[in-house]
Amino acid sequence: MDIKHLISQMTLEEKAGLCSGLDFWHTKPVERLGIPATMVSDGPHGLRKQDDAVDHLGMNDSIKAVCFPAACATAASFDEDMIRNMGEAIGQSCQHERLSVVLGPAVNIKRSPLCGRNFEYFSEDPYLTGRMAAAYTKGVQSQDVGVSIKHFAANNQEHRRMSSSSDVDERTLREIYFPGFEIPVKEAKPWTVMCSYNRLNGTFASENKWLLTDVLRGEWGFDGYVMSDWGAVSDRVAGVAAGLDLEMPGSGGINDAKIVAAVREGRLDEAVVDLACERILTIADRYLQSAKPDTPWDKEAQHALSAEIAAQCMVLLKNEGGVLPLDRADKVAFIGEFAEKPRFQGGGSSHINCFKTTSALQAAEGLDVIYARGYDALADRTDDAMIAEAVAAAKKAKVAVVFAGLPDAYESEGYDRTHMRLPDAQNALIEAVAAANANTVVVLHNGSPVELPWIDKVKGVLEVYLGGQAVGLATVKVLYGDVNPSGRLPESFPKKLSDNPSYLFYGGEPRGTEYREGIFVGYRYYDKKEMDVLFPFGYGLSYTTFEFSNLRLSASEIADTDGLTATVTVKNTGSRAGKAVAQLYVRNAEGDVIRPIRELKGFKKVALQPGESKDVTFALDKRSFACWNDVIHDWHVPTGDYAVEVGAHSRDLKLSAPVRVNSTQVIPAKFDMDSIVMDIMKDPRAAAAFKPFMDGVMGALQPSGEESEAAREAISSDMAMAMMQYMPLRSLASFAPDKSVVAQVEKILNALNAE
Ligand code: BGC
Repeated sequence: MDIKHLISQMTLEEKAGLCSGLDFWHTKPVERLGIPATMVSDGPHGLRKQDDAVDHLGMNDSIKAVCFPAACATAASFDEDMIRNMGEAIGQSCQHERLSVVLGPAVNIKRSPLCGRNFEYFSEDPYLTGRMAAAYTKGVQSQDVGVSIKHFAANNQEHRRMSSSSDVDERTLREIYFPGFEIPVKEAKPWTVMCSYNRLNGTFASENKWLLTDVLRGEWGFDGYVMSDWGAVSDRVAGVAAGLDLEMPGSGGINDAKIVAAVREGRLDEAVVDLACERILTIADRYLQSAKPDTPWDKEAQHALSAEIAAQCMVLLKNEGGVLPLDRADKVAFIGEFAEKPRFQGGGSSHINCFKTTSALQAAEGLDVIYARGYDALADRTDDAMIAEAVAAAKKAKVAVVFAGLPDAYESEGYDRTHMRLPDAQNALIEAVAAANANTVVVLHNGSPVELPWIDKVKGVLEVYLGGQAVGLATVKVLYGDVNPSGRLPESFPKKLSDNPSYLFYGGEPRGTEYREGIFVGYRYYDKKEMDVLFPFGYGLSYTTFEFSNLRLSASEIADTDGLTATVTVKNTGSRAGKAVAQLYVRNAEGDVIRPIRELKGFKKVALQPGESKDVTFALDKRSFACWNDVIHDWHVPTGDYAVEVGAHSRDLKLSAPVRVNSTQVIPAKFDMDSIVMDIMKDPRAAAAFKPFMDGVMGALQPSGEESEAAREAISSDMAMAMMQYMPLRSLASFAPDKSVVAQVEKILNALNAE
């Protein structure tokens, strides 16, 4: 397709029309020119393709599809290859169903446990989020269909999601909220990006030129089209000018007419409309050129894959006395309705109409398992009879496994949670079962952290997150040891909600929400505050044990432009095969910039037979050490002593190796009469230029004559210096008896600033 030529043949009305959807799920055709419509569909962890009644809240039916584990779970795998495989499978289904783009991955940061949509998001950590999103994107797009990375940007709450402004300083955006988009955009070239509903610092994301054009395209090189979230457009003309190419689902022609009028009245450059059309048509053409509707969609095979993936994501949080794995010879009680009807996905636009599901009870067929319902998830209640039945079952069994978690209504797109607790009915059930059977294990189905008030009363806890339609199969495999759990928490579990750094501001006020905790999100905050958490970021147990040793770096001193490799040996020291996750954190140098103690900069999952060791190598680069610098408006590595820390999780980093990193960037320092002594002395150029002047001032300040001894006792020269350090040049100059000093200082300043 000669796209530029086609566009040159289109009328302004046709072009404006192409910039909004035909209907809920299609781009517009231009039949006159032989351009067909293309279809997009949710996403992210399977297909929600609607053939009949349409909506974006997951209310109406969609075709029968396969529900893979949601992002909350897949992030816990810490396994890029695995999520890439999942992406490939989803891409194949898209080809089969003639979909050009799947609407995902969703990469917003889990700022607070309360966000209703956390289950769809990967992590509290930007690096992990970005790596997972890039792998998913590569997987889907290897099948010649596109992804839509969403929701760009700072869409971290559902409360007032279509109007609220997320007020975030630039450094925090760059370090925390952007990398989930930036990494996949740079590494995996997504076909499309979806802008979010919210405003960013007052301007709707759908009208934010800085976001959609300057950063996304100008800095990161995005070359696909940007579509709006469904109904995210407020001022369409401003949106086109800002770089929002496609409005979804469309406004019935109202906004198209506004685009036409704006061009005719000279308020909008037609070339901008042409560019939007070019981007939309380029992607449509890319799909049409490689459409393979005869691609098979083997749903049974994908069901099996979904089970395999779910098993790799489960996080063993507690396993006292080795209560797990279960022994097939033992009688086990499965208690709780989720054993029979698991909660495995969240509500809203990602809701998939599964062609089948496998519950733990079904998967346990043939095993010595008895069942008690324990609670009614839909009505969110239990009663004495259900508790009594559960207790009786628990008493009969060697081990009691309670299947708990958040019911659908607790956690969904469209609204936030109001607390971090499990349902009271479930907590009561767990307490009763734990009192009846000392070997109680809890299996959790949830998309975000919950409080575990009974944690000391149970022997085991297995976090399965929202594990997709085959979650029951995967759970039984992990419980019985067919699969050794290898998931690690992609988020911290705080002890209570009020420990969370966003607690004071989350949800905000009607106008918006200020991200006042800044870069201190998740473990970045808990670590700096030296705060106890229930489970730290990166945590997770295994049925075997691992040892990390022999950390070596390729250099002990580097320039920020050099690369650095870190190698560590990981050994399986237990008696079962298993997978370790080697996690690498960079401990930041101490200095003038306020930074987290440490940040995740590498991870690798390694399969090891008992007794086996493998070397794992990580490649670090400038970004591994950098923070965002507002003066140079770029990434910057403050010169200093960093440490590379490797271990099992963010609070178990037994290996550490120092590395000095020298910055090659010069930050142009500007000084004036208000600059203080301390800052001048820290800058080598300024310190040299001002030395004679400073010596003079210090000399003049020295007490003389008879008072000198007494004065020296009262104020040592160190004390004088300590007090002086905060003085601005103007005060120093005014102390000098010779008033010509002011002119002298100004001369030095001019010379310095001119360099
Ligand atoms: C959601 C998007 C989704 C879209 C289409 C919106 O409400 O925020 O994530 O892709 O609907 O269903």
